[in-house]
Amino acid sequence: MSIRSDVIWMDGKMVPYDQANVHVLSHTLHYGLGVFEGIRSYAQADGSGGIFKLDQHISRLFDSAKMCRIAMPYTFEQIREACLQTLKANKLNAGYIRPLVYLGHGQMGLGAQKNQVHVAIAVWPWGAYLGEEGMNKGIRAGTSSFTRHAVNSNLQRAKVVGHYVNSILARYEAIDHGYEEAIMLDQNGYVAEGTGENLFAIRYGKIKTPPITNILGGITRETAIEIMRRHGHEVIETTFGRDALYVADEVFMTGTAAEVTPIREIDHRTVGNGSPGAICKQVQKTYLEGVAGKVDWMLPSITTYTV
Ligand SMILES: Cc1ncc(COP(=O)(O)O)c(C=O)c1O
Repeated sequence: MSIRSDVIWMDGKMVPYDQANVHVLSHTLHYGLGVFEGIRSYAQADGSGGIFKLDQHISRLFDSAKMCRIAMPYTFEQIREACLQTLKANKLNAGYIRPLVYLGHGQMGLGAQKNQVHVAIAVWPWGAYLGEEGMNKGIRAGTSSFTRHAVNSNLQRAKVVGHYVNSILARYEAIDHGYEEAIMLDQNGYVAEGTGENLFAIRYGKIKTPPITNILGGITRETAIEIMRRHGHEVIETTFGRDALYVADEVFMTGTAAEVTPIREIDHRTVGNGSPGAICKQVQKTYLEGVAGKVDWMLPSITTYTV
C-alpha cells in the first residue's frame, strides 16, 4: 500500500506530497528528539470518515512534547482541525494519520534549544499492520534479544522519535528469525510490550497485561481493557515473565496500527490450540465494529467528517 498522498499539512499549509521536505540539518534528523502520533480513521456506515479517539491521541502528543520540553507551536484545537483537514484534502474516509513534531535547523549539538519547532501531518491508507492473515489466524512472535528501555533511560509515557531505534532493532531481528513481531522484555526480564503494540496474556480466563511503568500507555490497550470489562472479564495489570506467555491459552497485541492482533506462536511454542482464542476474538470483533461506529458505547470516541 502506498503512503503517497496528495498533500501533507506542514506548519499550517497544505503542501504537495513531493514538496513536503525538510532541511538535512534538521535537529530531529540527527538526534531523534521529536514526538509523534499514530491515529486511525475508519469508514463509517454512511460513507463518512470517523477518527477513533482523536482527542486522546492529540492529548498524548501534547504530553509527549511537554515531557521532552518541546514547545508546541499550535493549540490542541489547531492540531485537531489540521488532522481533519488533511484527511479531507486527501479525500480519505479511512486511513492512518501521522502527526510529527520535529525540530528544525540552525543550531547543532545536543544542548541546542533554539531550533524552530515544526509540525507535519501526513495521512495514507493503511491496511492490517501485521497482515490480514495475522488478524485472522494470529501471528508468530519471538522474544527479543534487545531489552526495552529502562524506566529512567527514557520517557516511556512519551511517543518519542528516537525511542523507535530500539523497536526497529527488535523488529528487524524478529523478521530475520522468521517472526512477524518481537516481544520485548524489560531490564528485569519481565514482558514489556511489542515494538509498537501492547500485550495481553490469558490463562484459565485470567487476563493479565503489564502495567504502564516502562511501556507506552496504549490508547488501544485502554479500549481493549474497557471492552473486556464490559464483557464481564477482570483485567489485571501486573508484571509477568515470558514463561507466562509460553503456557498462556491466549496472547494478543493491541495498537492503533496493529488493532487487535492474536499471537498463535511464541518462540516456537504454540499459544493455546494455535488459533485465536475466544476472548481475543471477542475483543477484536467489538473493537473493529466499534471503530466503524457499530457499538453504541464507543460512538462518543469517534470524530466524524465528510470527504
Ligand atoms: C511502543 C508502543 N507500544 C504500544 C503502542 C500502542 O499504542 P496505541 O494503542 O496508543 O497505538 C504503540 C503505538 O503507538 C507503540 O509504539
